[in-house]
Amino acid sequence: MNDMWKRYVLWFAQEHIEFRVSEIESLLSLFSIKMKYQEKPKDLEPYWIVEFLSEDDAKLLTNRSVSLRTCLELWGYENSLPALHQTLQSNTGILAQYFKPSKSFKVEVETFGNHFTQKEKVEKIETFSYLPVEGPVDLKNPDITLQYIEYYGTRANNPPQLPYKVFFGRWVADGLRQLIKKLSLKTRKFIGNTSMDPQLSLLMANQAKIWTGDLVLDPFVGSGSLLVAAAEFGAYVFGSDIDYLMLHGRTKPSRIKQQKRADDESIRANMKQYNLEHKYVDVLVNDFAMVFWKDAFEFDAIVTDPPYGIREATERVGTEKTNYVVSEEHLATHVPAKIEYGIPSIYADLLNFSAKHLKIGGRLVCWFPVFREDYSEQCLPIHPCLKLMANSEQVLSKVTSRRLLTYEKERHPTLDEQNIEHISIQDFREKYFVVREETRKERRLREAATRKENWEKYKKCG
Ligand SMILES: C[S@@+](CC[C@H](N)C(=O)[O-])C[C@H]1O[C@@H](n2cnc3c(N)ncnc32)[C@H](O)[C@@H]1O
Repeated sequence: MNDMWKRYVLWFAQEHIEFRVSEIESLLSLFSIKMKYQEKPKDLEPYWIVEFLSEDDAKLLTNRSVSLRTCLELWGYENSLPALHQTLQSNTGILAQYFKPSKSFKVEVETFGNHFTQKEKVEKIETFSYLPVEGPVDLKNPDITLQYIEYYGTRANNPPQLPYKVFFGRWVADGLRQLIKKLSLKTRKFIGNTSMDPQLSLLMANQAKIWTGDLVLDPFVGSGSLLVAAAEFGAYVFGSDIDYLMLHGRTKPSRIKQQKRADDESIRANMKQYNLEHKYVDVLVNDFAMVFWKDAFEFDAIVTDPPYGIREATERVGTEKTNYVVSEEHLATHVPAKIEYGIPSIYADLLNFSAKHLKIGGRLVCWFPVFREDYSEQCLPIHPCLKLMANSEQVLSKVTSRRLLTYEKERHPTLDEQNIEHISIQDFREKYFVVREETRKERRLREAATRKENWEKYKKCG
C-alpha cells in the first residue's frame, strides 16, 4: 500500500534560530517520526513546508517542540493572494469534508513582518467567503480553526507592499512556547548567576531526547535549571556540584533588589514550585573530577553546562604541594584545598564519564565555549564511543560564542578508551582574559584621546 503523505507548514519562533534543525531532528528520532521536506528550509525564514504520514505525527512533534509556534495542515501556499484564492477555489470539493453543519469554526489572520488593524484583517478574512463552511462561527472554542498567513519577510521595519508568500491551512497543534513563560527565571524561587534560561534548558532536554521515566544527571548542576526542564518532560533528575553554598541556597542573592536569600531557597523548592517534586531524586556536593558512581551505573541522559571560568570558578579538589598529608587530628574539620580545573580536563572528564555511564543510545548535551575566529570542528572534544549528533552556535559577543554539542553513545568503551586525554582542546579562558584585557586597555586609550581632543577644541574656542 502507498504511504499517504500530507503537506503541513511548521511555523517557528524567530528566536534561537540556529537550534531549530537539531531540535526537530532529535524529536523526529525520539518519536520515530518520518518527515519529508517539500522544499529546502531557508536559514532565516520562519516556516518549513514538510510532509507527514499522519496528523498524529505532526501533533506529537509540534506539541513537544520549543522552537515551533504552530503547525497547520496546508491547503494553499502561493506567491500572491489571487493565486491562493484560485488554488482554494479549485479544491472546495475536497475541503468540504472538513465542514459539517454541526461543526463550528473560526478564521484567523497572521501577518509576519507587517502590521494590520483588526478591521483590515476582517476584510482579508471576508475574501475567503467561497469556502464551503456550514457550521456556526465560534471565536472562543471552535471545532476547526483556519489560518491565513501573509509573509512579508524578516525586515519588519521595511516590508514590501505585497507579501512574498501567502499560506492557508487548518490549525493542527501549537508548540511549547507557553512553557518558556511558566518556567521564567523572573518568577523562579531559586536562581544563581549562571542559571540557564528556560528556552535553552528545554531545547537541551529535547536534544537529549528525554522521555518519561528517564534518569537524567547534571554534574555541574548549579541552581538546577536544566533539571527543571528535564523533569518537565518526565525524567527523574539528579545533580551534583562542587559549590556547597550554591546547593544549600546560601550564595549571595542573584537578584539586584534581594538583600538576603530566603531560608527555603533550593533546587527542591523550584521543583515544588512547578509541581515536579516527585521527579526530584537529589543533589550532592561533589567534585566532578572525583566521581564516585559504581562502574555499572547508567543514566539515560546527561545535560550540563560546565563552568567556563568567567562568571564562576573552575576548580577541583587538589593541592600543588607534593606528598601532602592531613594529620589525623585535623581530618574531621579539614576543608580540602582546591586547584585549577582546566577546560581540557573538564571536557575530558565529561566525555570519559559519559562514555562509561550513559546507556547505549543515551545522549550527552553540553555547552562548549569557543573563540569564534579560532573555531573549527577539529577543536571539539571527541570520544570514540560518542557520536557527535548536533553542534549549534550561540553567539555571545563579537569574539566569543558557545556551542551546544549533542553526543550519542554508540558502544561501551574498551579498557584503553576509559580515560582518554583531550590535549587538543584549547583552554578558552587563556585567550578570553587576554582579549578582554586588550579591549579594556584600548578603550581607556580611546577615551583618553577623546578627552584630549575635546580639551584642545575647548581651548581653541577660547
Ligand atoms: C555554568 S554553572 C551551571 C549553571 C547551571 N546550569 C544553572 O542553571 O544554574 C557551572 C557550575 O559548575 C560548578 N563547578 C565548578 N567546578 C566544579 C567541579 N570541579 N565539580 C563540580 N561542579 C563544579 C560551579 O559551581 C557551577 O555551579
